[in-house]
Amino acid sequence: MSNGVVFRDIAGRYDRLNSLLSLGQDQKWRDTVVSRLPGGRLLDLGAGTGAANEIFGDREVVALDPAPQMLALNDGRQRVVGVGEALPFGDETFDAVFSAYVFRNLDSVDGTMAEIARILRPGGMAGIVDLGRPEGERAAALHRAGTSVVLPLAGMSIGARDEYVYLHRTLDKHPPPDELLANTPLTLLETWRLGPMGFVWAALLRRST
Ligand SMILES: C[S@@+](CC[C@H](N)C(=O)[O-])C[C@H]1O[C@@H](n2cnc3c(N)ncnc32)[C@H](O)[C@@H]1O
Repeated sequence: MSNGVVFRDIAGRYDRLNSLLSLGQDQKWRDTVVSRLPGGRLLDLGAGTGAANEIFGDREVVALDPAPQMLALNDGRQRVVGVGEALPFGDETFDAVFSAYVFRNLDSVDGTMAEIARILRPGGMAGIVDLGRPEGERAAALHRAGTSVVLPLAGMSIGARDEYVYLHRTLDKHPPPDELLANTPLTLLETWRLGPMGFVWAALLRRST
């Protein structure tokens, strides 16, 4: 069996398990963000296998991801290998940027936000959704205790325990979105919470005209 076939198998199980862990809500959570973004040219930052492709409508979509194996499984027409911190695009070339379940993996959120601001046209918008902890110390502690047990077990079930222990740890990587995105060059329009206990956060930002 080739590596490509093995990766495809793992990526398929990974997508299915993620869907299960979010109780099948992961696409609905992506859509609450995509539905607030303008039409035109959209960058899917950290696009992975293209899980969001079906909800982009008739936008012109460019899929960017550092993992060529993920992009190989993405059926989007325009696929670019790269990272959010150094976007390989000209200034003011996109109407919208969308990013789902990626921000925990970034080396630099500030660097990525500066790049997003650079490639957006004046008035362009960015929408982000990611996993974190619920608001409030007690709810966050309860959630932390839960994911320390559930995620390693879920990962073990698909032979990917280490990846899911990593996921558990990254949930504490960032402060809440209002704090995380307070000092970007974009205007933070709105943040909101989704999912059980509100452990999923979403944010909408705009580049000034
Ligand atoms: C959990 S997946 C999410 C994929 C897709 N956005 C989705 O909604 O299913 C996280 C993705 O972020 C990508 N990623 C990791 N570091 C990145 C970076 N610095 N810039 C852009 N993407 C990154 C990974 O390769 C992976 O495809």
